[in-house]
Amino acid sequence: MSRAAVLTGLGTFVPPRVVTNEELARTLDTSDEWIRTRTGITQRHWAEPGTATGDLAVAAGERALKSADSGGVDLVVLATTTPDHPCPATAPEVASRLGLENAAAYDIAAVCSGFVYGLASAAGAIAAGIAERALVIGAETYSTILDPDDRTTSVIFGDGAGAVVLRAGDPAEPGALLGYDLGSDGSLKDLILVPGGGSRQRAAGTAGAGEPGPRPADSYFSMQGQPVFRHAVTRMAASSLAMLDRAGWAPETVDWFVGHQANVRILHAVADQLGMARERTVVHLDRVGNTSAASIPLALADAVTGGLIAPGDRVLMSAFGGGVTWGSTALVWPGVVAN
Ligand code: UT7
Repeated sequence: MSRAAVLTGLGTFVPPRVVTNEELARTLDTSDEWIRTRTGITQRHWAEPGTATGDLAVAAGERALKSADSGGVDLVVLATTTPDHPCPATAPEVASRLGLENAAAYDIAAVCSGFVYGLASAAGAIAAGIAERALVIGAETYSTILDPDDRTTSVIFGDGAGAVVLRAGDPAEPGALLGYDLGSDGSLKDLILVPGGGSRQRAAGTAGAGEPGPRPADSYFSMQGQPVFRHAVTRMAASSLAMLDRAGWAPETVDWFVGHQANVRILHAVADQLGMARERTVVHLDRVGNTSAASIPLALADAVTGGLIAPGDRVLMSAFGGGVTWGSTALVWPGVVAN
């Protein structure tokens, strides 16, 4: 029988500083009402200046390892849009800080789809015998790349991290990831973009968001909201259906849809397209905003801790993000307690 990746630990961390809609409305031409009705978000957490993605990833990773049955891991996959440095990857330092000596470690850059890409990548390594146990982390500090004067992005994104431990196991066990649907369309790469700082365009200047001093406009995150909204609904619905087909589940038998927490209107539109009751959609973005690669594990943990997701429940996860990229996976909840 083939080896599956089985979820055995779940941990999260959000930085303590809460930024409310009202606080943003003091400096931006926006309102609590606009943000709530257009997105469903009421607050987000932003890291204090000096706190980096790696710090959040270590905190969530530590909690996931504690929540797992036992033992370390031999692979660390970190999904992030906001690595600590352009070079090297953030994952090796996170692994080292977690005491995971000699673990293979690399970053995945699939923006908001990064966590699902990370699960698939780690599960592939487990299935191939490259790894026995893996820590998959989605961690972001979007506050460091948001343009504080851009109301179209600053009100949407938040910082945070979520992590799971996967171990080699049997495809029939609860917690086994039941397959993957991944895709991309790079012709739409300009829809979600940080133009500078890579090999195509250097970034000038040094100061980060939340820090004093000017920042170069080309190092800010930009998003064309409306087309992203449309593509997100279409792609997440199609990818979810492909995944359900692989799992052999009819949409109405799914207990919980844990979609990327971009916008409550997107989550409901996807549920409508799948023919699922909107009440089956896990909504966590109201309290943390869109945390990109961290959003699915954060929403998952919130639903588990809050008693929504129970052992034996059928859980479908689906994401859409920059690239553009999308991805879905599914599992029967194994009874893991979130930390
Ligand atoms: O995480 C990766 C995937 N990301 C997503 O999936 C995000 C997808 N997009 C969205 O969620 C939505 O497009 C947004 C929440 C970003 C924007 O909502 P929308 O309903 O698409 O608004 P819009 O961009 O069509 O803007 C409507 C109006 C515009 O004003 P006019 O042209 O009608 O006068 C905007 O200028 O709202 C204005 N607006 C704002 N007003 C107050 C845009 N941002 C704000 C704001 N506060 N923060």
